[in-house]
Amino acid sequence: MMNKSTLTLLSSLVILFAGFSFTPIKADELATLRYGEPIDQQARPSPIPKVIDEDTRSKRNYPMQPPLIPHDTRGYQVDLAVNKCMSCHARKRVEESQAPMISVTHYMDREGNFLAEISPRRYFCNQCHVTQTDSRITVENEFEDMDELLRARTNADSGN
Ligand code: HEC
Ligand code: HEC
Repeated sequence: MMNKSTLTLLSSLVILFAGFSFTPIKADELATLRYGEPIDQQARPSPIPKVIDEDTRSKRNYPMQPPLIPHDTRGYQVDLAVNKCMSCHARKRVEESQAPMISVTHYMDREGNFLAEISPRRYFCNQCHVTQTDSRITVENEFEDMDELLRARTNADSGN
């Protein structure tokens, strides 16, 4: 049973909220994902972007970057039973597949011991490696490569 003071509090809260009027938020105050579409209108969904599948390895922006996947991976099974990625990227498969072997770090456990098989830490490839799509950029990337920073510093030092 609710006591009387709780009931009074609840009913006064109801009255308080009933007094509010909700002003709609303007579309342009929201994140860019709506592309400026008014909030009360349904935008036409844009087509699903195509995965870049050009088989050309892309630049690495810093030495520890997991390289981007330069091929389509749709439907590649990676679970307890099968790791489709390893059917091409494992040490024993690269001769046939001509894929680059996963690097030696992928065979290391966290103590730095080399295992015969892929380390469980590296099993789920898509945790770190991603494909790219030809979609429009929503947020500009302002990342500056280490070399660009060094070059800017050298130019500033030499007064250029
Ligand atoms: C049918 C064989 C095959 C399968 C399966 C495959 N790959 Fe590849 N992968 C390649 C080949 C060949 C290349 C070299 C570039 C190219 O030809 O696309 C490559 C390149 C890569 C690279 C670029 C390496 C670099 O140094 O730039 C990454 C990362 C990669 N694959 C990750 C994956 C992941 C993750 C999966 C599973 C989701 C996968 N691959 C499945 C054949 C394969
Ligand atoms: C925890 C993150 C992580 C996971 C998971 C992971 N990788 Fe990597 N991978 C990296 C990083 C970082 C590099 C670059 C530095 C290095 O070689 O360790 C790399 C490098 C590679 C390369 C390039 C090797 C070379 O010598 O050029 C290939 C190919 C690759 N990974 C494939 C895979 C595949 C296939 C899987 C899944 C079986 C996988 N990776 C899982 C982080 C990861």
